[in-house]
Order: sequence, then structure tokens, then C-alpha cells
Amino acid sequence: MSTHIGAQPGEIAPVVLLPGDPKRAQWIAEAFLEDATCYSEVRGMLGFTGTWQGQRVSVQGSGMGQPSMAIYVNELFDEYDVRSIVRVGSCGALSEKVAVRDVIIASGACTDSAMNRITFEGLDYAPVADFGLLRAAVDAAEARDVTAHVGLIFSADSSFYASRPELMTRMVSYGVLGVEMEASALYTIAAHWERKALAVCTVSDHVVTGEETSAEERERTFADMVEIALTAAFD
Ligand code: ADE
Repeated sequence: MSTHIGAQPGEIAPVVLLPGDPKRAQWIAEAFLEDATCYSEVRGMLGFTGTWQGQRVSVQGSGMGQPSMAIYVNELFDEYDVRSIVRVGSCGALSEKVAVRDVIIASGACTDSAMNRITFEGLDYAPVADFGLLRAAVDAAEARDVTAHVGLIFSADSSFYASRPELMTRMVSYGVLGVEMEASALYTIAAHWERKALAVCTVSDHVVTGEETSAEERERTFADMVEIALTAAFD
């Protein structure tokens, strides 16, 4: 067992889907996996392993924000020898090119988090997705007729309740498509362990227009995203 994941060695598959919400992890396990079993309930951050199209896969909740996510991802790479992690989550759209219900496949991630500045002693590191996963996810989205945008995402530590319209406008003018809270640290940690990572996010709300998706739409678009993530992970 690792400190925060209650699994024995071998109980976690080399490929992991990583939703923030542990209940989403359970929903993915029940809706998409066969013979899924729960390997961890530590702190309610559920993790499951099952099979998808005959291939072993795990789904692990990460919690919200980069510090929480980093704990699970470090332990998955270090103590369970996980090879690929695909974050499946929601994001807010910033760019007018992006609509609610679309998918953003994050090729790279900006951040206001201090985590990388601490690691790199004030230098700006550029966290990027694994190119093979990225390409496979784009193909999978196209095959499903899902509108997917590839580009930069902003992984914000202070977002939901910190209104910073001028900063958001500036970010859009530099090509940032949307905002979420985990991708930057995920990409950085994957680089450190020489593993693969990708963040695929459905757009649940538009930060500029205020438009939001309904609960039913969120479930449907989330399902499309899980299919894209699984297809990409086993490409
Ligand atoms: N996830 C979904 N919507 C978000 C937003 N507006 N900001 C940060 N993370 C999000």
C-alpha cells in the first residue's frame, strides 16, 4: 500500500483514467469497465480496476486542484509503476472559439500554481502532453464526431471564486482555450517519471458568457470523453 492509495502491488493497471471526483471514478468503473473491483477507499478517494475491451485499466479519483492530484499521481507512478495517465475532467471555456459541450485536449498547460516555480527555482517550465496520447485522442474524437479543440489550457489554483476577467482575456489573446485545475502539474510529474500523460476535458461552462451545461448534458459529454480517453490510452 502507498500512503494515500490502499492498493496492493499489482492491483492497479498500467493505464489509469483520472477524474477529479471519486464518484465519477465509480461511475466510469460501473458504466465502462467489466469485472471492476474497488482497490482503494482511503479518504473516500475511490480507485477501481477492471477491463475495457479485454484490456486492464484502472480509474482513480484525484480530488480537485494540483496539490491533491499530485499526491495520487506521484504514488501511481512511483509505487504502482503506472505507465499512462489520462485525466478526464471538466473545464471552463475561455476562448469564444470553444463552446460548452465541446472537448479540449490540452497540448500544454499554463498555471498560476507555485508548484513548478518551487521545483525550478523561479524558472518557467513548459508542461506538455504526451504526443502519442494527444494524437490518438484527436483521432478518437474525430471518429466519434465530437468537436475537439487542441491547444493550451490554464491550470488555475485560484479560479472558481476569483474573478480575473482581464487576465483571462490576456490569456485568450495568447492562445489559451480553457481553464481547469490539474493538467499542468500532471504533465510535469509525468515528465519527471518519464511516463505518459494527457488531459481531456469536456467544457461544462463558459467563463465569458456564463453559459452552463445541464446535469444530463454533463453526463453525456463526460461519457464521450471517457470513450475518447480509453481509445487513446490503448491506441
Ligand atoms: N472546471 C470546470 N469549470 C471550471 C472553471 N470555470 N474553472 C476551473 N475549473 C473548472
